[in-house]
Amino acid sequence: MTSVAALRVSRVTGSDSLNLALLKDAITGLSASAKSLSPKWLYDERGSALFEQITGLTEYYPTRTETGILQHHAHRLAGLVPDGGALVELGSGASVKTRLLLDAATHLDAYVPVDISSEFLHRTSDDLRGRYPNLEIVPVVGDFSQPLDLPESVMDHPKVGFFSGSTIGNLEPEAARMLLQSASDWSNVQGFILGVDLVKDPEELVAAYDDSKGVTAKFIANILIRLNREVRANFDPAAFSYEARWNVELARIDMLLISTRKQTVNLPSVRIDFEAGEPIHVSASRKYTPDSLAAMVGSAGWKLDHNLMDAKSRFAVAFLSPSEELCEAVEIRQRQRLPSRRTTVAHGKRK
Ligand code: SAH
Ligand code: AVI
Repeated sequence: MTSVAALRVSRVTGSDSLNLALLKDAITGLSASAKSLSPKWLYDERGSALFEQITGLTEYYPTRTETGILQHHAHRLAGLVPDGGALVELGSGASVKTRLLLDAATHLDAYVPVDISSEFLHRTSDDLRGRYPNLEIVPVVGDFSQPLDLPESVMDHPKVGFFSGSTIGNLEPEAARMLLQSASDWSNVQGFILGVDLVKDPEELVAAYDDSKGVTAKFIANILIRLNREVRANFDPAAFSYEARWNVELARIDMLLISTRKQTVNLPSVRIDFEAGEPIHVSASRKYTPDSLAAMVGSAGWKLDHNLMDAKSRFAVAFLSPSEELCEAVEIRQRQRLPSRRTTVAHGKRK
């Protein structure tokens, strides 16, 4: 049972050092009858580093499968990127796969990595500046589920979005649709490259999200450590066990922290009671089929131009272009002399 003291967070904490956005989210999620936390809080410095470890695990097939597709089709994808364009990547992380695109699309002018994990983002951007001295690199710390404030310096560039790793699968379907729809509204957007993981054997899926070395378990439990540090909660991480479950109805892996005993956890202003065996839902990773992928992108105002898959159809990298309806809307705006959003595609070389 959960008991929540009706106190206002801002009054109780009285301290700037608390992460109030995290506290507010945690109170809402943990006070619900089905307890949950948002996966965006998994990514502090330690969380980002743990995710990088996950990408190298034998059981975690998505990174190497997507890398294979990007390697195989890098030049084809580069040909779809506009001359003098800006690549805007959502949830860029360590930008490792991105380098395959940056190496092939030498005619790009700018790269805008967007990520919520600020230190990790800035460190990655510094490294990329060393590797690509002629590319303008403009990191944006932000939450991709909110409308994106694009940097002024790339506002007029023709843009291509990039959302890799199947991070779109970590969003609820409506949030995923809204994110894609809001990207279709970026100024002068010409395309979007989307990495999506596909439905496969549940045993293989569960193994990918519950690896034998326990790295994923550490990554998910990191959210409790973060809550202790940033909002002064008193979780005992050892009193929660990690479990990955395949949810067949929703075609997703659910990542859960299960309370191993009846216990009470305190957060500023609230007390959260757990029954033994009670789960906290921390993250979900939705898996698509080629049909459900096409339906999602279509409902968000994009046209699926190319769906590039590996030989075993385990992962898809889709190239999306703005749908005709969207192009018509842009033409209407232009006729009304509102600012133009598109330019023609041509190719050249980065200096
Ligand atoms: N694209 C990389 C990293 C994927 S991990 C890859 O494919 O390997 C997911 C990334 O998204 C992390 O870097 C995390 O910090 C970031 N992220 C998660 N939720 C976010 C949010 N709401 N807004 C912005 N970035 C977010
Ligand atoms: C970032 N995202 C696509 C990963 C996934 O596969 O859902 C996050 C992850 N969580 C546990 N393992 C990996």
